[in-house]
Amino acid sequence: MTVHIGAKPGEIAETVLMPGDPLRAKWAAERFLENPVCVNEVRGMLGFTGTWKGNRVTIHGSGMGMPSLSIYANELIRDFGAQTLIRIGSAGAMQESVKIRDVVLAMTSSTMSTPSRGIFRDLSFAPCADYGLLQAAYKAAQSKGSAIHVGGIYSSDVFYDERPDLTEQMTRHGILAVEMEAAELYTLAARYGRRALAVLTISDHLITGEALPSEDRQSSFADMVEIALEAAFT
Ligand code: ADE
Repeated sequence: MTVHIGAKPGEIAETVLMPGDPLRAKWAAERFLENPVCVNEVRGMLGFTGTWKGNRVTIHGSGMGMPSLSIYANELIRDFGAQTLIRIGSAGAMQESVKIRDVVLAMTSSTMSTPSRGIFRDLSFAPCADYGLLQAAYKAAQSKGSAIHVGGIYSSDVFYDERPDLTEQMTRHGILAVEMEAAELYTLAARYGRRALAVLTISDHLITGEALPSEDRQSSFADMVEIALEAAFT
């Protein structure tokens, strides 16, 4: 048991999928895992452990933003021995070529700050995905027929952004999409020698103003869970 995770030793699997929303963790565990058991309820941040095709998996909420994800990922890695951590979440598109519902695999994540920023000071550390996971997720997404993009994303500290100039610069520099967690996940994975990836679906578009209809959110989320599970156990 840790400050924020009530699981007993051994109750967290080596492979952890991390949606932002704890209720999505519950939904995914009930839909995709055999014998899912709730292993965390502290502060309503639900986590479940079960098996998928005979492999042990934990699906645990991260909350929104890097400070929240950092708490859970730190404890999952350092106290529970998580080896493979895959974020499954939504992102806002920053390129015309990236459409609503498309899947983005974050090869790198640029950021202005992460909870780890203090370590690096003047260094612009480049948080990046595990290549093996990235490759496996690409194949899994391809076989599902998803429209996939692989490249750089932006991990922001704010959802309601007041810097249109910065958004413009990122679009100009090929950043595919914005979300709020991946850069810290990748940084922690690098620090502790673990594997990490962010599998994202486009839920809104910063250029066109479009948004994913709410009735499509569940099916997009299900696709991401399947891609993440296939990638983790390839
Ligand atoms: N997650 C999904 N859409 C987002 C956006 N527009 N900004 C930040 N995070 C997001």
